[in-house]
Amino acid sequence: MSLSSFEATKDFAAAMTACDPLAGYRSRFHIPQMPGGKDCVYLCGHSLGLQPKSTRDYVEQELNDWERLGVEGHLHARNPWLPYHELLTEPLARLVGARSSEVVAMNSLTVNLHLMMVSFYRPTRERHKILIEANAFPSDQYALKSQIRHHGYDPATSLVEIAPRSGEASIRTEDIDELIAREGEQIALVMLGGVNYYSGQAFDFPRITQAGHARDCIVAFDLAHAAGNLCLELHDWDVDFAAWCSYKYLNAGPGSIAGCFVHERHAKNVEIPRFEGWWGHDKQTRFRMGPDFHAIPSAEGWQLSNPSILSAAALRASVDIFSEVGMERLRAKSEALAGYLEFLLDRAGSSKFSIITPRDPAQRGAQLSLRVKHNGRAICDALAEQGVICDWREPDMLRVAPVPLYNSFLDVYVFAEKLLSALRV
Ligand SMILES: Cc1ncc(COP(=O)(O)O)c(C=O)c1O
Repeated sequence: MSLSSFEATKDFAAAMTACDPLAGYRSRFHIPQMPGGKDCVYLCGHSLGLQPKSTRDYVEQELNDWERLGVEGHLHARNPWLPYHELLTEPLARLVGARSSEVVAMNSLTVNLHLMMVSFYRPTRERHKILIEANAFPSDQYALKSQIRHHGYDPATSLVEIAPRSGEASIRTEDIDELIAREGEQIALVMLGGVNYYSGQAFDFPRITQAGHARDCIVAFDLAHAAGNLCLELHDWDVDFAAWCSYKYLNAGPGSIAGCFVHERHAKNVEIPRFEGWWGHDKQTRFRMGPDFHAIPSAEGWQLSNPSILSAAALRASVDIFSEVGMERLRAKSEALAGYLEFLLDRAGSSKFSIITPRDPAQRGAQLSLRVKHNGRAICDALAEQGVICDWREPDMLRVAPVPLYNSFLDVYVFAEKLLSALRV
């Protein structure tokens, strides 16, 4: 669908919705309702994805088995809990472009970033720096700075932040290349948000990974805003590790179990130092309860605890839908939705806001970030009162994400109309 074929009318948006091959998936989700019972226009899947209607059944299955079987559920539940997380392996591997030995569902995102850094950030006097994008999500900044301090270094000299050029909103890949070429010998770890939470910029994974590897850096990505949003090929791109949460585009519910990728060449190496826990121990001998740890030779070897089954059940409900649809089809619709939103906003030709997300579809996911000059917070609140849900990030950013699984072209049209009217454009 190209820009030239878009039209700024409700009839066009309705026609696009009617011929959308994925439109049926919307009815598989609970759409928050307005007081009169009409669907909200929910454009906040970059923050918290909506609940699949099937989630309740998946979770109830485990509640029922627990009620019926107690501890016996570990072996005799319909989906025994002991290997329950393995049910997530193939769907997660498909989502991020990994082999099954490279992914595991465990913990939450910041915890997984720390666990990965325990193994893959081993600074030395010569090589102690971490490269991150300026304006990364605060939890990532805290995690990286605390890791640097933990090893006795100073974030003021060991954390390198790459920012957009003055007057620009996106970071140029050539600037990342240039920085890695210049300082690479001191950089232990390159860790970028696959899609930056604030600007919506998607980074060039293979090129950055190649640049980092050329300088012997470990290259990792926080996929909080990329998993379930972009088509990913982590294995082929040779990324060292990645971690993501599952409550945004992956719709597994607030604080749900997260995911982790460790490239095969590391995942199989049981000698890599790590923090150890019984769930990462060789499955054949785990219940002999011996004192010495023997890692599972896969990403599972980084597990510490037995996972929350209720949370894993909620994630299964969602990833089963992803397996059914496939990321390619979702991505094609996502590009069309974001393109339509961009078209409607550009057409208004207003100086009251600007889109800071890259214009190139290859450099963004579902989210567009709009810098609003005045009263942005009040405008976001006013939209919410009319049932249009997006979110606000201080000081001046309205983040909007049409999500291909449950949003429609009509949602995008209604949002643009209401925003432009609130801005009096
Ligand atoms: C990019 C990014 N990193 C880290 C986090 C923190 O996630 P968690 O609370 O699951 O550790 C978030 C949460 O929104 C995020 O967007």
